[in-house]
Amino acid sequence: PVGLLDGKLIDLSENVVPMEDRGHQFGDGVYEVTRVYNGHCFALKLHVDRLYRSLRELSIPAVYTYEELAEFHDLLIKESGIADGAIYLQITRGIYPRAHGFPENVVPRLTMSIRPVSAAPDKNKLEGTKGLLIPDERWLRCDIKSLNLLGNVMGKQKAKDAGCFEGIQVRDGFVTEGTSSNFFVIKDGVAWTHPKSNLILTGVTRTLIMEKIAPELGLIVVEKKFDEAFAKAAEETFISGTNSEIVPIVALNGQPVGNGGVGPITRKIQDAYWALID
Ligand code: PDD
Repeated sequence: PVGLLDGKLIDLSENVVPMEDRGHQFGDGVYEVTRVYNGHCFALKLHVDRLYRSLRELSIPAVYTYEELAEFHDLLIKESGIADGAIYLQITRGIYPRAHGFPENVVPRLTMSIRPVSAAPDKNKLEGTKGLLIPDERWLRCDIKSLNLLGNVMGKQKAKDAGCFEGIQVRDGFVTEGTSSNFFVIKDGVAWTHPKSNLILTGVTRTLIMEKIAPELGLIVVEKKFDEAFAKAAEETFISGTNSEIVPIVALNGQPVGNGGVGPITRKIQDAYWALID
């Protein structure tokens, strides 16, 4: 399997993580996951814009231009021969003897890898799946796509242990987002999702729904907080994300959402999303 270290091709079996990489020791870094369809990156510009924002929030120098990062993505696609897949990119602050404060004159370190993902929608996407409402135990800067994912990892496992696909997190009574996805509900034909804030990641898929798909469908989306009871009483619910795309959540905590099937609005959003892929 091929990867890139600071833009240079490597084999993933090589040991690329030095002991004193701050990503390794502190989770001091950021990442992006971008889908590849038919040999092309999907919405790469939105991912790179978000990457730059995450870096800026952590005062990590950007180092690479958009054009360079696009080239690296293309190189991975070409060298791997993977036409449908996902590219993982991470940038850590760099390598320095362990000390909490930001070191000076440290060079950020970029690693990337690609893996195949089937372009064909799986059962979850077609038939819907189960969600579990769980406490949001993460930190207060969920808007940064940082490498610190222990809260997300623990939440996902809690959902898996309960036989559910995704954990839908609840903080102070309000539903925030999935462990690796954003969360939407449909109530009286209107879509609701948590407002952009430090409590959620602004998903690229969420942005595409808000800015492209909803206007096209004439669907109103309100960015407004809602509670657990509101979600359970919704007509439809779904999650959105790079890997998930649009996944209908047809049961919450073992109770059917709406009539327990994939709702018509969710299906329309899903079809419109797939229509964006060329
Ligand atoms: N996760 N919220 C969280 C906490 C996420 O980790 C993600 C993405 C999203 C959706 O963002 P986007 O639409 O840009 O993928 C929302 C990635 C895919 C991951 O960790 O693998």
